[in-house]
Amino acid sequence: MIRTERLLLRRWRDGDREPFAALNADPMVTEHLQGTTSREASDAFVDLVEAGWRERGWSLWAVEAPDVAPFIGYVGLWPADFVTGAPMVEVGWRLARRHWGKGYASEAGLEAIRFGFADVGLDEIVSFTVAQNRRSIGVMERIGLIRDPAGDFDHPRVDAVAYPHLVRHVLYRLTRERWESTRTLP
Ligand SMILES: CC(C)(COP(=O)(O)OP(=O)(O)OC[C@H]1O[C@@H](n2cnc3c(N)ncnc32)[C@H](O)[C@@H]1OP(=O)(O)O)[C@@H](O)C(=O)NCCC(=O)NCCS
Repeated sequence: MIRTERLLLRRWRDGDREPFAALNADPMVTEHLQGTTSREASDAFVDLVEAGWRERGWSLWAVEAPDVAPFIGYVGLWPADFVTGAPMVEVGWRLARRHWGKGYASEAGLEAIRFGFADVGLDEIVSFTVAQNRRSIGVMERIGLIRDPAGDFDHPRVDAVAYPHLVRHVLYRLTRERWESTRTLP
């Protein structure tokens, strides 16, 4: 469990499953994803996330904003080996809509990057989304990731027939070296 200025980044509880399913059923939250998610699929994803914590020691945190809400969404690290076929770790986020516009994703994202480099020992962290997902790209840029136009790719898990506009992804990267040289916190 990690505390940031305003947030608690923690393992998932059963009580998170209902609000997580609710945000996954919000079409605005899933605007740049492949549709809303059923309760069953949402729960299966939580199981996968928790298996990541047990098996690898890193995964997505359930994000709590004490005094605001016990669960506002997730932020954290996720395997993304499928991007190039080589080992790759992504920093990602998904928050309930009423908690957007407060800087929560950036606050937790910065901590996810610190955790990835300092505690997990990663050499690089990436992030990616469709070019039209300006909010997610905003988080990437605020927390110091850098666009690598040569790394843009067609997402192999996107249904190109149903969601042709969600196939092309822009790639952002941050190396441990750059993170160490630019971070201002001790
Ligand atoms: C992507 C997502 C997490 C971004 O959330 P967000 O709240 O816009 O991002 P941040 O936490 O960085 O907050 C930045 C906003 O908070 C504002 N803000 C308010 N108080 C702030 C504070 N104390 N510190 C920083 N920013 C603050 C900023 O001005 C900015 O506002 P703006 O949107 O008007 O420019 C959210 O839109 C989301 O969950 N989307 C759906 C899921 C998704 O697409 N995930 C990515 C898939 S690849």
